[in-house]
Amino acid sequence: MPAKQHSLGIMTRCQGAYFVDKGFYRKLTMYGRKKGLRVFVFSPRNVNFDARTVRGFEYRQGTWESRVFPLPDLIYDRCFVGPSYRHYKPFVERLQNDPAITFLGHGLSGKWQVHKMLIQSPKLAPYLPRTELFSLSTLRETLRTHGAAVIKPIAGTHGIGVTRIKAMNDRYEIAGRNRKNQPFRRLVKGQAGLATFLRSFTTGRKFLVQPYLNLHTPAGVPFDVRVLVQKNGDGAWETTGAAVRVGDKRSITSNLHGGGKAVPLSPFLSRHFSPEIKSRIEQQVSLLANELPVFLEQSHGRLVELGIDLGIDTDGNVWVIEVNSRPGRTVFRKIGDPQARLHSITQPVRYAHYLMQARVGGY
Ligand SMILES: Nc1ncnc2c1ncn2[C@@H]1O[C@H](COP(=O)(O)OP(=O)(O)O)[C@@H](O)[C@H]1O
Ligand SMILES: [Mg+2]
Repeated sequence: MPAKQHSLGIMTRCQGAYFVDKGFYRKLTMYGRKKGLRVFVFSPRNVNFDARTVRGFEYRQGTWESRVFPLPDLIYDRCFVGPSYRHYKPFVERLQNDPAITFLGHGLSGKWQVHKMLIQSPKLAPYLPRTELFSLSTLRETLRTHGAAVIKPIAGTHGIGVTRIKAMNDRYEIAGRNRKNQPFRRLVKGQAGLATFLRSFTTGRKFLVQPYLNLHTPAGVPFDVRVLVQKNGDGAWETTGAAVRVGDKRSITSNLHGGGKAVPLSPFLSRHFSPEIKSRIEQQVSLLANELPVFLEQSHGRLVELGIDLGIDTDGNVWVIEVNSRPGRTVFRKIGDPQARLHSITQPVRYAHYLMQARVGGY
């Protein structure tokens, strides 16, 4: 009797037959097939828990075919947390609690939760910007000590809502990105003007406050370093690649969604830092890539991959800006690194294979 074929479900947000990252999932499906895994894409909202089936999509002969599948053995969680995540959450939790299903990793749920875990590590703490929950008083305190602060939504992505506040005599300059991710800049007068602006800007969302860091080149171009770390076929962490995302000079954020581009790390560092500082930065980047995933996994539970966003200030200090458990891969295409790009797609399949072997003692 042939062994049962194991299945890997890519859990994502689908609107009918529409879902993002199709190119990525197509390659993942084909590589999975080579490794003996049947791969399909599904939305947690389409699970039938009584029948233990789910309607999803499988890539076959050039198209995504819709069909009903038995619940998968393994789940790759690509269900982005965002404003309407509450519609998905109960289904996701039910799948997470299902003893017959193994998640490759459990998604991180927000910047504040991640910060509170990382700050417990004596090795990582020096690389974290001072971070507090936003209130008028924590903001005032940060402005008093640092002159300029950043506020950003706890559940934010793509730079949306990331805003700098600068104290200037009796005025405050506010610059950032609104809810539609459009850049804006304005001046308000006095504490009262600031409070009025922030009341409406922060309504309905929780924000964090950090000191504003000079995460830009001497010419004022914002950038950050995205490091992709992934579990490999032995269940161990490995760095897949790193790239620099460069934002628009007029912007305070470097997110690609905000109109930025990507370039390779080493030549970028050579252009902007002395050889000594460059090598210190590279050492710290690799220390963070090695230490952070292992530590975070101890506090949080199983993870399959992380996009670690590092900021580098004008003095060459390295800062952990954000850790993303559902990282994108477009940077590797943008910097023309096909090897890192291919690796970024195949690693989750290798790890899935490893988990399956650990679970059932082989195929
Ligand atoms: N404390 C800060 N000081 C200066 N710039 C910051 C700070 N925090 C974030 N940024 C800029 O804003 C971008 C987006 O911030 P991030 O925390 O990653 O939020 P998002 O989830 O929206 O990507 C960063 O990549 C960086 O360019
Ligand atoms: Mg980010």
